Amino acid sequence: MEIKKLEKHEKVPMELLLLADPSKSIVEEYVAKGDCFIAESKEQIIGVYVLLPTRPKTVEIVNVAVAEAHQGKGIGKILVNDAILVAKTQGYKTIEIGTGNSSIGQLALYQKCGFRIVSVDHNYFIKHYSEEIYENGIQCIDMIRLSKEL
Ligand code: COA
Repeated sequence: MEIKKLEKHEKVPMELLLLADPSKSIVEEYVAKGDCFIAESKEQIIGVYVLLPTRPKTVEIVNVAVAEAHQGKGIGKILVNDAILVAKTQGYKTIEIGTGNSSIGQLALYQKCGFRIVSVDHNYFIKHYSEEIYENGIQCIDMIRLSKEL
């Protein structure tokens, strides 16, 4: 598997990006401003993440996704760790990520990669998404924000 940065003129894997974020308009907005990295295997895109600078010396992983057939094999962890390495190499001091209160697996993954929970954005998913989201039998309402010093 190879991870590479997409050039601005290259097409982003929208289907994969939508796995992590159901709002196409929100995805399009941050993809235009950030850098999109893809994981390729056998000429197929099987993973993606997007890094977006948010504040001085701070960058956020605004999207990370692995194709359904390839999930649960350690690729998500490789992508998150690659994002951490890229951010550090680019001179950022803090990397952040946010996920829903119902995203149990994602919360496990990010903490296994060294992220700590720093705050909760209450009602974020009610305010910003038109449809109700459910995962693991829990309604996704609040955004859990996590951060890691680099
Ligand atoms: N409890 C405890 N640990 C869990 C868990 C759970 N419910 N679910 C996952 N994990 C752990 C795994 O055990 C693994 O840790 P390990 O390496 O120590 O065993 C780690 O989380 C990550 O597993 P990995 O196989 O690397 O994840 P993945 O390749 O399936 O990718 C996602 C993870 C989230 C990127 C992937 O599932 C995905 O694309 N989901 C849809 C999009 C999405 O939700 N993106 C994130 C939006 S915030």
